[in-house]
Amino acid sequence: MISDLLLRAAQNKKLESLVSGNALTRGTVRRFVAGVSLQEAIRVAQRMNSEGIDVSLDLLGESVEDLAESAAATDQYIETVQTIAERAPGATVSVKLSQLGIGVDPQACAKNLDRLLEASAAVGVLVEVDMEHSSVGRPTLEAFRDALPRHPQTRLAIQAAMRHTPEDLESFTDIKPRLRLVKGAFAEPLSRALRDRKEITAQYLFLTDWILAHCPYPAFGTHDDVCIENVKKAAVAAGVGKRDFEFQMLYGVRRDVQRQLVREGYRVRVYVPFGTQWYPYLMRRMAERPANLLFFLRSVVGR
Ligand code: FDA
Repeated sequence: MISDLLLRAAQNKKLESLVSGNALTRGTVRRFVAGVSLQEAIRVAQRMNSEGIDVSLDLLGESVEDLAESAAATDQYIETVQTIAERAPGATVSVKLSQLGIGVDPQACAKNLDRLLEASAAVGVLVEVDMEHSSVGRPTLEAFRDALPRHPQTRLAIQAAMRHTPEDLESFTDIKPRLRLVKGAFAEPLSRALRDRKEITAQYLFLTDWILAHCPYPAFGTHDDVCIENVKKAAVAAGVGKRDFEFQMLYGVRRDVQRQLVREGYRVRVYVPFGTQWYPYLMRRMAERPANLLFFLRSVVGR
């Protein structure tokens, strides 16, 4: 399937350097990525704030290769939260633990995460932890669990497609963390993840009810009308008010729906990626909607 090919292409370093070096792709990249610099991301955040939309800034980059790189990424994140506090209050940051070194040294990663959470708490900015491929899923869950007692407002993304998610959620029953429910964006083996889109959607609907019943201030990361409508109804049924949860969407995707939800009185937060390492992120967005690929390929060949 084309989505599988794109998800595999997302991990291909040769293709990455070929595509990233191509100036013609800039237009397509700009649809999904706020810019290469923090300043550009802040400008996007301020523009979205003026439309009543909150943001979560994501400094692009994943899977660092050594501890020096993970420390540098942590420093950049700390600079981001300090800038947010001054210039885009209300924004959160979204971080991938592979960027903070979980694949290199989980203990060093835990220290980096702690450093980021301390610096964020000092300036009143909240941190959201993305959930990546299952190869780092378990350590991510453990790092989040360890950090939670000191930083209970930290949010973790949970993937509906993963077969072990209901069990993970059960293990959170006493802790009641903040969660962001998403379908799951990574190529996973059938033994670990659902692959059928209808089954994934059904699981998303089921987990929506669970999260609304058990977790404070949840976020629902989806652009799917079926999931969105279900969240609205499930929230009413659970007695959760419109301002007591968030819809979250990706920058450049379904902007009309983002604005409509704001008009209806819901909280909306848009995930705004920025930075130079946009290639794997963009490939995942192509995999979610292969129609995007046509525009992208046209830009690569310059037509
Ligand atoms: P679905 O894929 O069925 O899309 C529904 C509709 O939305 C499509 O028909 C189309 O109209 C539109 N749409 C969706 N994606 C599009 C795209 N790329 N381009 C254009 N239109 C598109 N995943 C993960 O594994 N770990 C994580 O931490 C996160 N974090 C995260 C944060 C936020 C805020 C969001 C919104 C999503 C994530 N994801 C994620 C990605 C998520 O797992 C999933 O891959 C995408 O959200 C697509 O799934 P939907 O629920 O939107 O449904």
